[in-house]
Amino acid sequence: MSVEKDPETGQVSGFEPPWFYAAEENSLEEGKLLHVEPGGRNVLLLKAEGEIHAFINLCPHARCPMDRGTLKEFILTCICHGRKFDVRTGECLNDSLQLKRYDWKIEGGKVGIKIE
Ligand code: FES
Repeated sequence: MSVEKDPETGQVSGFEPPWFYAAEENSLEEGKLLHVEPGGRNVLLLKAEGEIHAFINLCPHARCPMDRGTLKEFILTCICHGRKFDVRTGECLNDSLQLKRYDWKIEGGKVGIKIE
């Protein structure tokens, strides 16, 4: 069984697979788009209207990095072609595309992402 280490401090994070360390909880700010790589995956972490959300960091339209987009209230807009996603559901407001969501949890001020 592997143990994740906090990349900044080198400390053991306490998460065990399928959970992987993603970020410090206090690094999340309202409206900020954070690219993280728990378990080597490309994940977008964000906080919108006080709620944390985690998605694959690739737009389902043409795989642009979602962390380069913008977040206003709960609408995430892709930088490439402007598709808008509701972060409460992951649904695209322009068509039937869907952003893949990850489960997350907080332990000891650290955000963990479930990678299966
Ligand atoms: S790649 Fe995101 S809208 Fe086209």
